[in-house]
Amino acid sequence: MLTTMRHLLLFISCVCLSPVKPALGSLPAPPSAPKKNVLFLVADDAGFEMGSYRKKVVQTPNLDALAKKSLIFNNLFASVSSCSPSRASILSGLPTHQNGMYGLHQSVHHFNSFDGIRSLPNLLRDHNIYSGIIGKKHVGPSEVYKFDYEATEETHSIMQVGRNITKMKLLVRDFLEKKPAEPFFLYVGFHDPHRCGHTHPEYGAFCQFFGNGETGMGHIPDWHPITYDPTQVEVPHFVQDSLSARRDIAAQYTTISRLDQGVGLVLKELENAGELNNTLVIYTSDNGIPFAGGRTNLYDSGIRLPMLMSSPFHTERHYQATYAMSSHLDLVPTVLDWFSVPYPTIDISQNQLLQPLTGKSLLPLLIKEPTDNGEAIFASHNHHEVTMYYPMRAVRTKHFKLIHNINYRMPFPIDQDLYISRSFQDILNCTREKKPIHWSKTLKTYYYRPEWEFFDLRKDAEELRNVAGKPAYKETMEDLKSKLLKWQEITKDPWICSPNGVFENSGTFKDNPACLPLDNLDF
Ligand SMILES: *[C@@H]1O[C@H](CO)[C@@H](O)[C@H](O)[C@H]1NC(C)=O
Ligand SMILES: *[C@@H]1O[C@H](CO)[C@@H](O)[C@H](O)[C@H]1NC(C)=O
Ligand SMILES: *[C@@H]1O[C@H](CO)[C@@H](O)[C@H](O)[C@H]1NC(C)=O
Repeated sequence: MLTTMRHLLLFISCVCLSPVKPALGSLPAPPSAPKKNVLFLVADDAGFEMGSYRKKVVQTPNLDALAKKSLIFNNLFASVSSCSPSRASILSGLPTHQNGMYGLHQSVHHFNSFDGIRSLPNLLRDHNIYSGIIGKKHVGPSEVYKFDYEATEETHSIMQVGRNITKMKLLVRDFLEKKPAEPFFLYVGFHDPHRCGHTHPEYGAFCQFFGNGETGMGHIPDWHPITYDPTQVEVPHFVQDSLSARRDIAAQYTTISRLDQGVGLVLKELENAGELNNTLVIYTSDNGIPFAGGRTNLYDSGIRLPMLMSSPFHTERHYQATYAMSSHLDLVPTVLDWFSVPYPTIDISQNQLLQPLTGKSLLPLLIKEPTDNGEAIFASHNHHEVTMYYPMRAVRTKHFKLIHNINYRMPFPIDQDLYISRSFQDILNCTREKKPIHWSKTLKTYYYRPEWEFFDLRKDAEELRNVAGKPAYKETMEDLKSKLLKWQEITKDPWICSPNGVFENSGTFKDNPACLPLDNLDF
């Protein structure tokens, strides 16, 4: 521990310069391309349930068609596995502990990013790029995330702007009609396939009945509902194989098919407006699927996500897969690179040097797979709901994953939405009744985690065998620990000394910030 403290002191006292690798060169726009827009499609709690990620049962013809014109990401990671924190990190390029959005934004949770944070729409506005958001926003404060055109849950019903794909189509049409001639950045936030049992149980566990034309469900004219047989769905490795979980997955598939048809409608609007051939289209999700092991976890099941990136100007790698380690934190640099807009270096309001972003533009991947596989991605998590404090930090390379469960003596928290689901109730019931769960974990191992979890993904892609402390892995683990610590330092992580020290950085410690020991070990 002492050594760690010394390392920490060392890191903190050095004046570290920007870790940002220079973007690998902006891509020159072909002369025939007068305008270059960005359409950013974000699904809510969606995983890899689509044909182009080799799922055979769920029907996603529109996403699959988009995949044929896209680079398909196989190593894309969220920087946090929770809705508002993830969306804030996507839009600011900064991890949750750096942008201040520590947890959910709505109602009692009330988390917000810091007032001085620069977000994509604001950065783009300074360069006359018109921005719009349709659907789920879930970040604040409004001045920090201010889009020129907004039709979100703040002004509409989330069911209408997030799940009614006809309404969403009409809003996209309205945006395209109203936008000035300049380039645009349009963010479409689908609320599908988020769970629904907690807020609108009348529409089913995933709102799979909403708008299906049955009595009391209303009608979504453009939606052709697809229903799935629970016995036929593909159960992810981290979900228990039980009928309750399968029924949830079948309902989730129905709303994924609605999302898929919504994506088709939005792309059609873009085409009708004559903008399809000059727009970068990105599809991703905010975090992993809402099952135990998924959302709110830093296991791959919580942060590894689908991403499609389709550029009409870069067809070289259409329908190819990239394995380059990529992060949601790379999206701000990517969009800025696309528009040739620099990230500011000075915060004018505070007359301070701005912390540079740690992400990198992903546009070079559209042309060529890099040969260097040594990259690491990082993740951090503090809250989901306000009551769900469970700080974690993680680093992942192609072959290894290290998770630091900072307050590891606490039980891992469960959110309201997951708790009442039949998937989780099934786990609870079986545990209480001492019946087999058909799960790779037990409730006890799920709740109580060791401080350090280290996985050799070459042999253990499902992250089930913790090899932290095993002599054979000592060196690799130490290497990743120091990478993680360095990233925490660069991103000004207030949790950098937790759980065994207190971070002091003002007063007498102003010029020599330090982790002071708490002597809380060995009790
Ligand atoms: C969906 O939106 C359309 C267009 O606004 C509307 O006609 C329809 O009733 C809506 N459906 C539901 C289920 O609210
Ligand atoms: C867009 O580009 C594709 C491929 O270059 C071409 O086949 C198609 O006709 C173009 N569509 C429009 C609307 O310009
Ligand atoms: C769990 O047990 C309760 C009480 O017996 C029962 O009402 C409920 O249906 C069960 N749920 C599941 C998903 O098994």
